[in-house]
Amino acid sequence: MTRDIDSEREEKLPDGGTAAGDDQVALDPWGSATVADYRKLFEEFGIEEFDELLEEVPDPHYLMRRGVIFGHRDYRRVAEAMRNDEPFAALSGFMPTGDPHIGHKLVFDELIWHQQQGGDTYGLIADLEAHSARGLSWDEIDEHARDYLLSLVALGFDPEEGTLYRQSENRELQDLAFELGSKANFSELENIYGFSGETDVSHMQSVVTQMADICYPQLEEPKPTVIPVGPDQDPHVRLARDLAARMRYFGVTEAYASFELTDAERIHVAAAYQNRESYAEEPERPRCEEAAEWLADVRDATDPVVAGTIDKLDNAGMEPLRPRVRFLDRNATDEAFEALVEAVDGEKRVFEEHVDSFDLSREEAEELSREVEVDHGGYGFVPPSSIYHRFMTGLTGGKMSSSVPASHISLLDDPEEGYDKVKAATTGGRETAEKQRELGGRADECPVYELYAYLLAGDDDEFAKEVYDECVGGERLCGGCKEQAAELMEQFLEEHQEKREEAEELLEDLDMELDSPRK
Ligand code: TRP
Ligand code: SF4
Repeated sequence: MTRDIDSEREEKLPDGGTAAGDDQVALDPWGSATVADYRKLFEEFGIEEFDELLEEVPDPHYLMRRGVIFGHRDYRRVAEAMRNDEPFAALSGFMPTGDPHIGHKLVFDELIWHQQQGGDTYGLIADLEAHSARGLSWDEIDEHARDYLLSLVALGFDPEEGTLYRQSENRELQDLAFELGSKANFSELENIYGFSGETDVSHMQSVVTQMADICYPQLEEPKPTVIPVGPDQDPHVRLARDLAARMRYFGVTEAYASFELTDAERIHVAAAYQNRESYAEEPERPRCEEAAEWLADVRDATDPVVAGTIDKLDNAGMEPLRPRVRFLDRNATDEAFEALVEAVDGEKRVFEEHVDSFDLSREEAEELSREVEVDHGGYGFVPPSSIYHRFMTGLTGGKMSSSVPASHISLLDDPEEGYDKVKAATTGGRETAEKQRELGGRADECPVYELYAYLLAGDDDEFAKEVYDECVGGERLCGGCKEQAAELMEQFLEEHQEKREEAEELLEDLDMELDSPRK
């Protein structure tokens, strides 16, 4: 048996509690105040705060406005494509291990929203992963797969505009997985996922399959692509971003002379170039060794980065400093490299494994390198982006878990059962009504408030805020609050299940194998 992939992930996130839905997570309806709780994700993993780019997103979804979507990687390029009416894509995947529940609804909604914004949108059933990493039988997988797809469509996903697939049925995907697998090795999977000599090969294959899922929307044409997921999936996103880059034919960097610079070194050399008037004998031809001398004067030469930069400049001696963009040959075929050389306009210098261009901007160079790559059989992947949502707290406190029915509301629960579960939920209320009136409730720690903010209030920000304000202001008591939430939940489930029935038909029309031939 393989280890449970979730427990592996938690070991990889030292702050697993916070990342994976710790019940300490404070929930503020408008986001920013609670971001500190996720600090480690930002500081240690380099996830960026979503709030910082909220203004760049046209007509943001309520999950974005309320800080439920709290983090991202590189989402800026997706927002930009959206604003400029350029192609972009969205993709997420679902492991069919149980019933779809209100936590999954967050991701369904994120996909549907991106589709409505004009994105080329994909929803996939991670059946290979469910089979290999969780040991589910194909019978169980078929049953759950259908339920996920029905709910996704019932909530508004347009299967004619978008794409739905099962990993196991998608040959193109598996070919792509094979190609991407050539850029990853075992040590890397060991480091990222804690795989060991005991890990079975199918489990590893499900990882490269997910890498292929993430790149799949770009098979026909490279484009910004967002992967909406929970932060537990971030290791996958990072690996996919790495593999996508390793597939590229050319790397584009900025340089000032014949030698290579790290990003940190480049900052010092750029400063030296900027200040050339102050030290160069011929300011239109500042020499590397002059720049080295200047740096030694004005920077702390005991700093290893500064020292390394000075060394490189010294070694280049009389070579002039001159800004340029550099195309590095990574995986290009000979023809592709020659075609690139040919395509670089203006002054250029051609070397064995790179070309320097003196007239192109960085952006022009990126674009050109991608064009040539795609023309010569490469993928030209744009690094995939991601957005991360907070995990919902379980109705009974603690984590919301598929395996604890009382902790979540399944999208298949009888509406009355949904009603009962909300009525039985833990709250952030005080011991007595008097205390609650005096001190106010703790909406930030209340699973019922989360239901309002994440789902029941829908697009109505004012309603969500009203519940919050009334709660913390002591005007709202838990009995009535839960009654209202329970009724709304019952109504939501009723409507959703009606729409699921209508979605049956749409699903039949899809050319998708809903019964696995593997049984
Ligand atoms: N691994 C994901 C999960 O645990 C499912 C998944 C498979 C996925 N492929 C994906 C998610 C691609 C996002 C993108 O649920
Ligand atoms: Fe939660 Fe509502 Fe009680 Fe406030 S009043 S603590 S939101 S159940």
